[in-house]
Amino acid sequence: MSQNHARTTRPNDLATRLSAGFSSAITAALGQSAAQTDPTIKAAANPKFGDFQANFAMGLAKSLGKNPREVAQQVVDAAPQSLRDDCEPFEIAGPGFVNIRLRPETIAAALAAMDAPTLGVSNGAGAHTVAVDLCGVNVAKQMHVGHLRATIIGDTIARLFERLGWKVFRQNHLGDWGLPIAMTLAALRRAKVDLNRVTLNDLNRAYRNAQEQGRDDEAGLAAAEATGAGPHRLAELQAQHVGAAAAIADAHDTLRRLQSGDPAVVADWQRLIDVTMQEVYETAQLLGVDLKPEHNRGESFFRDRLAPTVDAFVQANLAVRDAGALVVRFEGRERPLLIQKSDGTSLYATTDLAAARYRIQDLGADLVVYCVDARQRDHFKDVFDALRLIGWTTHADGTAASLVHVPFGAVLGADKRPLKTRSGENFTLKALLDEAIARGRREVHARAASPDAPTASLNHTELDAIGQAVGIAAIKYADLASDVGRDYVFDLDRMVSFEGDTGPYAQYAHARIAGILAKAAAKGLGRGAIAITEPEERALALNLLRYPGTVEDAAAQLAPNRLAAFIYELANTFNAFYQACPVLRGSDEATCASRLQLCALTQRVLADALSIMGITAPLRM
Ligand code: ARG
Repeated sequence: MSQNHARTTRPNDLATRLSAGFSSAITAALGQSAAQTDPTIKAAANPKFGDFQANFAMGLAKSLGKNPREVAQQVVDAAPQSLRDDCEPFEIAGPGFVNIRLRPETIAAALAAMDAPTLGVSNGAGAHTVAVDLCGVNVAKQMHVGHLRATIIGDTIARLFERLGWKVFRQNHLGDWGLPIAMTLAALRRAKVDLNRVTLNDLNRAYRNAQEQGRDDEAGLAAAEATGAGPHRLAELQAQHVGAAAAIADAHDTLRRLQSGDPAVVADWQRLIDVTMQEVYETAQLLGVDLKPEHNRGESFFRDRLAPTVDAFVQANLAVRDAGALVVRFEGRERPLLIQKSDGTSLYATTDLAAARYRIQDLGADLVVYCVDARQRDHFKDVFDALRLIGWTTHADGTAASLVHVPFGAVLGADKRPLKTRSGENFTLKALLDEAIARGRREVHARAASPDAPTASLNHTELDAIGQAVGIAAIKYADLASDVGRDYVFDLDRMVSFEGDTGPYAQYAHARIAGILAKAAAKGLGRGAIAITEPEERALALNLLRYPGTVEDAAAQLAPNRLAAFIYELANTFNAFYQACPVLRGSDEATCASRLQLCALTQRVLADALSIMGITAPLRM
C-alpha cells in the first residue's frame, strides 16, 4: 500500500544498520542462494542478553539441512568489519539466536547524529501528497464526542505526515448541503428566527425538530395503523403527518431556491454554516487541532460535480437503473451503491465519489485517508470499489493512489454503552472538554499548594493555563493511545491521572526534565558528549534512537497509538534512568555533562512526539 511511502531507509537507525550488516554476512557465509534471507533483527526481550537479537539461523539451517548453531557461527564469522565495529563480540545462544550488544561508542555516535533539529526524522525526501478527511461535522448540529475522534485522529495523522515532510491537505468534509439542512433552514425561516442572533444550540434544536417532523410521524402513523390504535390517536397522527408533508414540501422548495442561488436563502444558509463553524473552530483551537476555514471542503463544494459524476458512471456503463434509481453493482456483493435517487437527486455516496476524484486528480494525493466512524465501513468499501471500477484512483502518470478508511470505534460510558448524558442525550464535545479542563485545573492547583512544588510560585492564571493543557492532554492522549478501531471507555479519573499511561504522565516527565535543566543552568553546569555506561543510560538511549522509526511506522500504519506507546515507554525509561543515575549531584563533571545532554535530548523528543499529537508540554507542572 502506498502509505508505505512513509518508510524510508534510515542509515542512522541501528536496527536497519544491523540488518544490512547481517545480510551481507549471510551472503558472504552461505552464498548467493541465501542472499534473500531476512536477518530478523529484533529488540532483545531482556537487556541481560544484549540490545538486539538476530533469529535467522533456525529457518536458514532447516532449509540447508544444517545445525542452526553452526549456521549462526558461520554467519557471525563472516561479519563485515563495519558490523564488528558497531558491536561487542557476538554470542550464540539457545537453538541458534545471535545476541547482539552494541558498543557504547556506537550508541553515542548514533545519538549525536540524531541530535539535530530534525531529531533524525526524515523530512521531505521523495515527498508524497496525502489528503486527510477529518472532522466532518454537520451544519446546524452540535459537535458530539464522535466528532472528537474524527477530529483529533485526523489531525494527528495529518501531523505525522507533515512531520515526515509530506504535502498534506486537510479536508473537512462538512455536511453542508442537501435536504437535512434545507429542512432546518426552512423551519427557521418559517418561524422567522433572527439568524443573526442564533447560537449553535438553537440551530441544533431546530435541526432535531425538523428531522423529527419530517421522518418519524410517517413511521408512527404506519405503526399506529398496523397496531390498530384508537381513532383519536390516529386522527392526531394524521394531522401531524399533514404537517410533516407540508414541512417536507417547504424543505424541498427551500433546497431548490438554495440550489438555484436565491440570494436571501443563500445568505441564511451561509449564516448557518458560520454559526456552526465558529464553534467548531473554537473547539479545534481548544483541542490544539489545526483546522481552519481553508480546510473546508464541504459537500456544497462538490455540488457542481455531482451531475458529471453520475454521468461518468452512466457513460462507462457502470451505473444501472433500479426502480428508477441509479446504482453501481459489484461482483459478488449483494449490496449496490446508490448514486442517484429516483427523484433525480444525488446522495452522500455521490459526493464522496466526486470528492475522492478531486483529492486524487486535482490535489494530486497519493494517499487519501478517511478518519470516519467504523459504522461507515460498508459505505467506504463501496465508494472505494466504485472509484477503482471507473479508474479515478489512477493518476495521469499511471501511478495508483491508495484510499484508506481509518474506522474508529465508539466512546463508551462506564456502563459500556455509547457515552450519554444522564438524560440520555449525546454528550456535546464542549461539555466534555469543559469537564476535563476543570479536572485538570483542580489537579494542578492542588499540586501547586505544596510549598516545594515547581509551580508553587505561579499565579492563578498561570496555573489555570497549565490545568487546561493537562485536561486537554488527558482526553486527547487517552483517545489516541487506544487502538483506533476499538471502542474505549471514557474514564476521566484515569485519563487525568499523573500516573500510568496517560497524557499528564507524559507531560509531567517532560516538565520534570525541564526542571532539571533549569536547575543545571542556574548552577552553570554545561552539557557535553554523551557516554553510555550504566544500563539505564543504555535503555534510555536505545529508546530515544527508536523515535524516527516510530514516527514513520505510526504514519505508515495510520496508527497514532504507536506514537503514544513510544511516549509512555520513553517517559518510563527516563524515570528509571533518573532514579538510577544521579545527574546534578554525585557525578563527576563529564558524567554530569553527558547526563544533562541525555536529559535535553529526551525533553526534545518528548515535546516533539507530543506536538505530533497536538499536545502542549508545559515547562512546570
Ligand atoms: N458528515 C458525515 C457524518 O457526520 C461525515 C463525513 C465523513 N467524510 C466523508 N468524506 N464522508 O456522518
